[in-house]
Amino acid sequence: MTPRALSRLLRLLRVPLTASLLVGLMAGAYSPPAAAAGRAPAAGGSTPAARPPAAQAAGGPVTPDGLAATPPMGWNDWYAFHCDVNAQLVEQTARAMVSTGMKAAGYQYVNIDDCWLAHSRDASGNLQADPAKFPGGIKAVADYVHSLGLKLGIYEDVGTATCAGYPGSFGHYQQDADTFASWGVDFVKADWCNVPFGDFPGMTEQQVAEKLYTEYSQALRAAGRPMVFSVCEWNPSLRPWTWAPAIANMWRTNNDYGDTWGQVLGNLDQETPLAAYAGPGHWNDPDILQVGLGGMTTAEDRAQFSMWAMLAAPLLAGNDLRSMSAATRAILTNRAVIAIDQDPLGAQATRLSHTPGADVWVKPLANGDRAVMLLNRGDTPLDIATTARAAGLPPAGAYAVRDLWAHTTRESAGRIAASVPPESAMLYRVSPLRAGAGRYAPLTDVSVSPSVPPAYPGSQFRIAQPGQSITVPATFRNDGRAAVTHAALSLTAPGGWDARGAPATAAAVPAGGQLTGTWQVTVPPGTASGSYPLTGTATYRWNGGQAATGSGGGSIDVLVPPTGTPYLDQLAWLSAVNGYGPVLIGRNYYGGPLTIHGVVYPHGLWTNSVATIYYYLGGNCSRFTADLGLDGSDAGRGTVDYQIYADGTKVYDSGVVTNSTPTVHADVSVSGAQILELYVGDAGDGISYDNADFGSPQLSCGIPSPRGA
Ligand code: GLA
Repeated sequence: MTPRALSRLLRLLRVPLTASLLVGLMAGAYSPPAAAAGRAPAAGGSTPAARPPAAQAAGGPVTPDGLAATPPMGWNDWYAFHCDVNAQLVEQTARAMVSTGMKAAGYQYVNIDDCWLAHSRDASGNLQADPAKFPGGIKAVADYVHSLGLKLGIYEDVGTATCAGYPGSFGHYQQDADTFASWGVDFVKADWCNVPFGDFPGMTEQQVAEKLYTEYSQALRAAGRPMVFSVCEWNPSLRPWTWAPAIANMWRTNNDYGDTWGQVLGNLDQETPLAAYAGPGHWNDPDILQVGLGGMTTAEDRAQFSMWAMLAAPLLAGNDLRSMSAATRAILTNRAVIAIDQDPLGAQATRLSHTPGADVWVKPLANGDRAVMLLNRGDTPLDIATTARAAGLPPAGAYAVRDLWAHTTRESAGRIAASVPPESAMLYRVSPLRAGAGRYAPLTDVSVSPSVPPAYPGSQFRIAQPGQSITVPATFRNDGRAAVTHAALSLTAPGGWDARGAPATAAAVPAGGQLTGTWQVTVPPGTASGSYPLTGTATYRWNGGQAATGSGGGSIDVLVPPTGTPYLDQLAWLSAVNGYGPVLIGRNYYGGPLTIHGVVYPHGLWTNSVATIYYYLGGNCSRFTADLGLDGSDAGRGTVDYQIYADGTKVYDSGVVTNSTPTVHADVSVSGAQILELYVGDAGDGISYDNADFGSPQLSCGIPSPRGA
């Protein structure tokens, strides 16, 4: 299979393409647990960060080569094109970088990734481009890119072959560096595949990485042409941030990732303990942007761009610049956000607060301002707040709060808060206001918090049923430094819904004050499953008469309980977390059917421990049955433990299941339960080969009866 066909397949399977995965699969030797070793730690990062040498901390001196004083900006072909790279694509992309305004916004590097090479070196051992893909060679492409005022990047590998199997640089570092310099290359990404560890007996992988990348760096410097050095050592357990700042301009902080919100958050979280390692000339690299690749919503793409800017990350667009939408272009060329990334202080943001749903990140800026990001990680609207003082700003009577996506400025007495839509981020530039606060409308915040009870006491899920009546408080807060007058707060429910309650009103809402109203909202009988928005809208006057409005949202998740005897793969889960890759429906990780001891299950789930999957039963089901066992693709080596919970109470435990355990049949009562939880543990021996199936997982349910007011 070609790498492109392979990566398409993996995309369909929603499996992240990693270097080791790509190489292993091409060699027919891959097993998920091997790559799982390189996965990001959980939110917050579990690896304690050693202190970086003082000279490398944020604000320290630029590296001696003077390159990358701010994070490099450009484009890389890998995620959009994989091995389909050629001179035409690179030249068209360079033209697009100019015509779309990206060059004017600061993008410079047009970077060729893997697969540009011929399969062998020439008679003198020199690298050569694939003659079909680059008929004029790389120098001609570099000349063209330079003629547009842009720079050219190239890709190699410190091992014997690139990740896609083309000649690697091992044994040729100086020769290849000289070749790149002679071609006019400006940026070199050096990958981490096919490293001959056997040549370095007694050395750890980390020591080998440090040695080889240091030699590569020295070769590039000796080649006599300024070339940004990008270390693509993608295994975070080798902690490149501890050794790369002295030898490279950027280093990867994570394995390859995919075009999903969860994976973008994973890369962000991986950077949490690493802020002190970044600074002018040397940057943490959470990888190429996924913006515009199509897997995320516009709000998610915008949020990723905000996150990368806060991280002072290299901004390498990964999409097809020749055909991007206006929305994608607007994201990639938002100069106010780019200015946060490119701020000359070069400080990486730190996380001020974190809950499973909401993050607040803060980045100090060269002129004393602070960039503040309010990030809603979850799938319901959230009110997220911090203060200017908590963000590190000095005391002031008022602060200017510039919204870098809406391009509006409000004035705040100190609180910085917003109702943040699901899976999105607000990004502000905040500065103390010495005078003239009266010019700006006050920063206000409307929050809507439907009080749907938890599915059972302590449950994380709050789900409404058709017919249910729900109390909905909403609050308007004035965070400005003066009172607002003529305030009214109203609530809008979806069309056809009954929302009882009059608008809340107040002649004046003082600075720091609030206005609260309560409504009684009924989900109409017959409402289909879905997430339904509720919007609070406040109208008021400020500065003695100017009219303004503010709004904020909440939502009610409605689910209709299952009926009849559905298989779980026919229902939508509430959430599913797998040890490696996503939980898969009706097939195993390799695309084959679910198979336990030779029996094929057309219905079922593939998991990899530790996995947790939740389903909504709504009290309408009585039994759950399933065949449990390791999938035939586990190479006979997995060890797991299946547990089943009804409303948080364990109703089943399989004990340890290995490949020699006959198929286990679970048959449990779930009578009256709201939530079914399936859990696959690693049975205490790690997650290697733990590819565990639920064969024919089936519920017995009744006819739903509306719960109601
Ligand atoms: C590795 C790198 C990717 C890309 C591919 C090319 O997976 O991490 O960024 O360069 O190799 O094969």
